[in-house]
Amino acid sequence: MTDRLIAAAVAARAHAYAPYSEFAVGAAIRDEQGRIHAGCNVENAAYPQGVCAEAGAISALVLAGGRRITEVVVVGGGDGLCSPCGGCRQKIREFAAPDVVIHVCGADGTLRRSFTLDELLPHSFGPENLA
Ligand code: THU
Repeated sequence: MTDRLIAAAVAARAHAYAPYSEFAVGAAIRDEQGRIHAGCNVENAAYPQGVCAEAGAISALVLAGGRRITEVVVVGGGDGLCSPCGGCRQKIREFAAPDVVIHVCGADGTLRRSFTLDELLPHSFGPENLA
């Protein structure tokens, strides 16, 4: 199952628009119906306006009517782990339970590490805080 998610993230990464950082990222998320939604990073000449791959995938999930994230894959190049940035951890948090697994892969889809959301964003603030 995770294989399909990884393949979707690798395919999404090929569409990344990253002329400034030249750091292409792909992300894929599974929703509560088992559907896969993917995204790539889209940079901008006004640098802070760029959006991360995870944000694109979450937008696709919401557009398709999804409301829960059940698994995440992020694919990026370089030697280091391409783990979600702080902002994306919080964006994932909105739709995911603490035990949801986030897989971090190399550019070719090789699995490097897997984390739970709670490991990446402990003691987080979420919708329940506003209930
Ligand atoms: N980036 C992502 O899209 N996701 C991540 O998890 C880490 C970083 C993007 C943002 C920017 O376009 C480029 O990678 C370099 O930071």
